[in-house]
Amino acid sequence: MVDTNQGGLPDGRTNPPRNWITGQETTRSNFGLGRDLSQPQRGLAAVKRVVWPQPGVAKRPPMTRMDRMDKTLLDYLQRILNARVYDVAIETALDPAPKLSKRLDNRVWLKREDTQPVFSFKLRGAYNKMARLSQAERSRGVVCASAGNHAQGVALSARKLGCRATIVMPVTTPQLKSDAVASLGADVVFHGESYSDAHTHATRLADQHGFVFVHPFDDPDVIAGQGTIGMEILRQHQHPIHAVFVAVGGGGLIAGVAAYIKAVRPEIKVIGVQMVDSDAMMRSVRAKQRVRLDDVGLFSDGTAVKYVGEETFRIARNLVDEFITVDSDSVCAAIKDAFEDTRSIMEPAGAIGIAGMKQYVAKNKIQDQSLVAITCGANINFDRLRFVAERAEVGEEREALFAITIPEERGSFKKLCELVRQRSVTEFSYRLSDNDHAHVLVGLTTEDRSEAALIGQTFSDAGFAAVNLVDDELSKQHLRYMVGGRSPLTENERLFRFEFPERPGALMRFLSSMAPGWNISLFHYRNHGADYGRILVGIQVPPNDHAALQAFLGDRGYPFAEETENPVYQMFLR
Ligand SMILES: Cc1ncc(COP(=O)(O)O)c(C=O)c1O
Repeated sequence: MVDTNQGGLPDGRTNPPRNWITGQETTRSNFGLGRDLSQPQRGLAAVKRVVWPQPGVAKRPPMTRMDRMDKTLLDYLQRILNARVYDVAIETALDPAPKLSKRLDNRVWLKREDTQPVFSFKLRGAYNKMARLSQAERSRGVVCASAGNHAQGVALSARKLGCRATIVMPVTTPQLKSDAVASLGADVVFHGESYSDAHTHATRLADQHGFVFVHPFDDPDVIAGQGTIGMEILRQHQHPIHAVFVAVGGGGLIAGVAAYIKAVRPEIKVIGVQMVDSDAMMRSVRAKQRVRLDDVGLFSDGTAVKYVGEETFRIARNLVDEFITVDSDSVCAAIKDAFEDTRSIMEPAGAIGIAGMKQYVAKNKIQDQSLVAITCGANINFDRLRFVAERAEVGEEREALFAITIPEERGSFKKLCELVRQRSVTEFSYRLSDNDHAHVLVGLTTEDRSEAALIGQTFSDAGFAAVNLVDDELSKQHLRYMVGGRSPLTENERLFRFEFPERPGALMRFLSSMAPGWNISLFHYRNHGADYGRILVGIQVPPNDHAALQAFLGDRGYPFAEETENPVYQMFLR
């Protein structure tokens, strides 16, 4: 869903968009700068400064919001320009994404923060904060709480600066991440079940041992460090940019990027993207105060924050043009998009910006614009890739899943196969369950969502009732792996595993070659993208036909193995 909330407007006026200082109608990128963007003025340079004291005016008028925001922008501009990040961080590339550009009909650029030394932008903020500590503070050591990228940023910065770092991680932290932090020389302390438990413990350690606490987002030096990404983008792309899409967790990244962009090229939209189940910043901006979430989804662990920062909220509510929320399927699809253009695999938080960009383009139907997404991290566990690959097709709406009911009569299975013959089949599961009807789960590759409806119609026209399951979580997450089970009707059933070279149309050729004389009572196929397709087939063969079956199997030319005596088959399927 795209949130069209006018979140950044502190006075809540929404229609038509107005500059919140001057009250003039304006574009929404004009926050904080109090002027008409159609004029050729730009950024802070265009703001008229009031010189004080003024002759004949006794009392200085109170500071307006504009004054306060100007001050903030100026302050952050200085902090960002002076930020010390390049001792550890690199200036990452702003890479064109040709495939995504073609698909979205816009010019897409990826700011490759996934290529930083610890595979995320977080070391910019951590290092800037730590490099600014006094020698005395640094010699006391630093502490932080994090299960992920901030921990690695702090650990690497500490090693570079020669100071001791203690990282508190929840006990649930994957070993991969704690090992990465330990290998950078930091002391790892496991405490509590959640980030909040670890955070409380880290502040306790700071009090007890005099360590300096390094906040993951709510600190001006951390924000300024992240803001160097905005600075690099504007330097690297001096032509017009329509919008920059930024993943939001606690808000440090977007606060820094927005502060720089709105100070220098305020006509560029800064768009915050959040997971739909982890949208603390969007809710806070709507509510005009920080909102604490009870729970957050953990799929995108980098952005799973329940309570945003005070300073990050203040900046985001004034400077961010719009917030968009995305779901995990669309983030999986975005990971795939990023892979296709970069051959790199982003972590979920690292691809959120792309998912938001796609949604924004679809909703606003913009064309021929330059759009930037910050790919902010690549710390993904290998075992997550299975889920990502599985869901990417659904998220992209390139896989349609149907439950189809066919009459249990000779020829109807074959007729169904004829209907799907032209398409690429991703899944085909069937188990004989009653005498009159069979239910078949079929997954098919599609070009877009509208196609699923057309396919459903084709099934209905052929007399097969079809239920479109593309929005059905039960089916996508569980049922597709569970179809089957025992059947009381499987007299004389024999079970075979077959392999065939995975080529377009190969599955349907295989199905058509099955002898019409015997009833197929079980069928399972799932396309895993391997070189060989693997299927499991149950065939009901009367004892008198066993020799004929053997001959038939030999004639097919497909390698096969009989599994009828396999105890697992006996336990779960007979
Ligand atoms: C990869 C990645 N993306 C985005 C974020 C969100 O950053 P912030 O908390 O500054 O909003 C994080 C935070 O750790 C992250 O690791």
